[in-house]
Amino acid sequence: MTQKTTVSIIKCDVGSLAGHHIVPKPLFNVAEKNLKTAKEQGLINSYYVFNAGDDLELLMVHEKGESNPEIHKLAWQTFKEAADKALSLKLYGAGQDLLKDAFSGNIRGMGPGVAEMEIEERPSDPIVVFAADKTSAGAFNYPLFRIFADPMSTAGLVIDPNMADGFKFEVMDTMDNTKVVLKSPEEMYDLIALIGTVQRYMISRVWRARDDLICSSGSITRLSQIAGKYVGKDDPVMIVRGQHGLPAIGEILVPFMHTYLVEGWMRGSHWGPIMPVSLRDSKCTAFDGPPRLVALGFQVANGHIACDDNGIPMIADLFDDPAFELARKEAVKVGSMLRRMGEFEPARLGPEEMEYTTLHQVLSKLKERFKPA
Ligand code: F6R
Ligand code: MG
Ligand code: MG
Repeated sequence: MTQKTTVSIIKCDVGSLAGHHIVPKPLFNVAEKNLKTAKEQGLINSYYVFNAGDDLELLMVHEKGESNPEIHKLAWQTFKEAADKALSLKLYGAGQDLLKDAFSGNIRGMGPGVAEMEIEERPSDPIVVFAADKTSAGAFNYPLFRIFADPMSTAGLVIDPNMADGFKFEVMDTMDNTKVVLKSPEEMYDLIALIGTVQRYMISRVWRARDDLICSSGSITRLSQIAGKYVGKDDPVMIVRGQHGLPAIGEILVPFMHTYLVEGWMRGSHWGPIMPVSLRDSKCTAFDGPPRLVALGFQVANGHIACDDNGIPMIADLFDDPAFELARKEAVKVGSMLRRMGEFEPARLGPEEMEYTTLHQVLSKLKERFKPA
């Protein structure tokens, strides 16, 4: 029987150093300790702990399938413990994404973000995980379209017969809580019509049309809808599978040679240019940003992350490369231009999408002074 392996990435802002900037070492230590124990106990086979700005990211490879209560509980307890540590150190926003108290078997809907993909391992299976800070899941619509539907970006759509049938996209309507599957290229215009509205429609999964091979899975959460109020940005994660009849790793990365605008900068209330960075630069500074994105590549091998001679998982820090220097420079340039606009749209989000706003107070204060025009 073909081996079934699950890649899970579960993330949470449990508190950070100097405002919403970076996950400090003591919180990494909690995660490392717990995942090491889980590995020794045989619950997971491999793990890698990293950060996207102020979000603690747990990458785990195991054979328990998606939405497994034990795996989700491991993540939940790790985030709880890290949040307690953050609280004891008086770190900023300690436990801010842990929105519910009692764990009931699945971490979805409780605050943390989750992307999971169960795969039948191919002879060689390259994977990229993306993790972003200061933005929401809609930020992945544009690159996912470029990767799996745009023949001007992914050459394989045109010249690899294994991709000629195109790809299927599952699109979530995060307002109505419904989903629809659209097939590209046949329904490409309908697809763009939906996913161009990045604040509402978000791509949750992608399959190769020819054989329904799963090739992408993303976290679709709206923290504000779970909590009923603003509690921080969703800071999404996504898993993408590549090569051998799927987009090559280079085709998965090429959309990030330029920056593009995403929602969620400063107070979840501004548009900002995405900045692809190495783990070294995975920290938010100017105006709490610009929104950062890291991409880690690895090979799945017999239920594990392929390891080096010392048993250490081999992880490629894909944006640690001068090829993305232009995008970073563009992000600084576009970001500084937007910031000169202050609180004027479109630098600021529209009033219905702002997470922080004083508009209600301003309107009620001025109510009596508004006269018929
Ligand atoms: C956090 C974020 C930040 C905060 C901002 C204000 O995810 O996006 O930009 O919204 O730093 O935070 P408070 O209100 O906690 O001072
Ligand atoms: Mg934070
Ligand atoms: Mg964050």
